[in-house]
Amino acid sequence: MLFPDDKCKYPPEQISYAKRVSDILMQTHKTRPKACVITFGCQQNVNDSERIKGMLYTCGYDMTDTPEIADFIIFNTCAVRGHAEDRVYGNVGATKKYKKENKDLIVAVCGCMAQQETVAEKFKNSYPYVNMVFGTQVLYRLPEFIYKVLTTKKRVYELSLDNKEIVEDIPTLRDGSIKGFVPIMYGCDNFCTYCIVPYVRGRERSRSSEEILKEIKQMVDAGYKEIMLLGQNVNSYGKGLKEDINFAKLLRKINAVEGDFLIRFMTSHPKDCTKELIDTIAECEKVERHLHLPFQSGSDRILKRMNRHYDSEKYLSLINLAKQKIPDVTFTSDIIVGFPGETYEDFVCTAELVKKVEFLSLFTFIYSPRTGTPAAVMEDNVSREEKGKWFTELLKVQEPIGIKKEKEFIGKTFRVLTEQKAKEEGMLEGKTSNGITVEFSGNEELIGTFQNVNIEKYENGLKGSLI
Ligand code: 5AD
Ligand code: SF4
Repeated sequence: MLFPDDKCKYPPEQISYAKRVSDILMQTHKTRPKACVITFGCQQNVNDSERIKGMLYTCGYDMTDTPEIADFIIFNTCAVRGHAEDRVYGNVGATKKYKKENKDLIVAVCGCMAQQETVAEKFKNSYPYVNMVFGTQVLYRLPEFIYKVLTTKKRVYELSLDNKEIVEDIPTLRDGSIKGFVPIMYGCDNFCTYCIVPYVRGRERSRSSEEILKEIKQMVDAGYKEIMLLGQNVNSYGKGLKEDINFAKLLRKINAVEGDFLIRFMTSHPKDCTKELIDTIAECEKVERHLHLPFQSGSDRILKRMNRHYDSEKYLSLINLAKQKIPDVTFTSDIIVGFPGETYEDFVCTAELVKKVEFLSLFTFIYSPRTGTPAAVMEDNVSREEKGKWFTELLKVQEPIGIKKEKEFIGKTFRVLTEQKAKEEGMLEGKTSNGITVEFSGNEELIGTFQNVNIEKYENGLKGSLI
């Protein structure tokens, strides 16, 4: 939704700020000024950036991907690993030269990195050309922040993390028209010892099922064919809500929404993944037949130190139950290599679990210490070089498994959501409900539609043909 109606829950004072910003910009610019939104990190951030774009649009900006020509540049940042943070510092530093050419340029930094006080201080003291720094929970106040910078020329610092109610109906400009994100909960209460997220995104808060269903119905009416439900731990959805609901019940409600669309979700936590949820996935025809279920480590000793609240046996039993109940189910996972205190023997347990489950693909990370988390002060005696070797070893274990999993689907027919043109001329690319990418020849007009595709062969990926 871009222009709020009477029932809109977006705070009226922010709508008023947006109008005043738009009036000022119309007086100072001949054409609509341009805003560039640069996003780092996960899908949650991509979705937040869609809201940033929506608010900027209501403030009078058009979007551009080229920072050099922008009048407003905003970095929506990620703090999960050090590498992402280093990239942000480099990118923000580059705006100094744009400011020399355009003295009215506004530069903003928001998101998970900005929420950390030490980082915000660094921007305050060492990056004088950054006009605003604000955290994850005050995102909806962007029109107010722009108004303040335009009218007072002062810098804005707003980091409050009060875990209050969720602000609904923030204007949104979505990136795509086939696949769309719908957050169902924000924050995290799990405090895995390596993870910064609970500190920068605050406590877990779920959206009411009514708001979620309203948003999904609007998207389905607008032609969206895939809805990705987002949350740090979707499996604990509903905690703290007055209604009698959990994630499985929410999935059933969404499954009952009229229309032809696919429901995906991420991320699931094994400790909250229930038999009820697995049955629900098996019984709901619109729900994907795929589980992204991060196990992080295959060593029970390391899982304890990570504060994950499950062991490898419980994880495997969940996987086996899903394999038994959901035909053609596939799995993906996140893994951390080189957690403090991890030995090569622990790492071997991880590699063994990878072999047992047979994942379609993996997201593997070398442990990155995050200041303020318990793991950051644990003793860590393994060198970065050694961890790098384990990491490469893990990739080598997974590679043939991923190919073997894909080949298992040769000879079968699947319903595929056609997503885009493939690299090869005349070919299209789509995804099955269990997350397999397949290429097939067909007309571009099929993009955005479901098609039945027979998977025929594996040649650097699966190839098939339309039925
Ligand atoms: N170091 C490395 N990887 C991490 N992740 C979270 N925190 C860290 C960290 N400090 C990984 C986890 C998580 C994914 C989103 O990022 O695997 O599931
Ligand atoms: Fe981080 Fe653990 Fe929460 Fe996931 S569940 S966001 S890894 S603390």
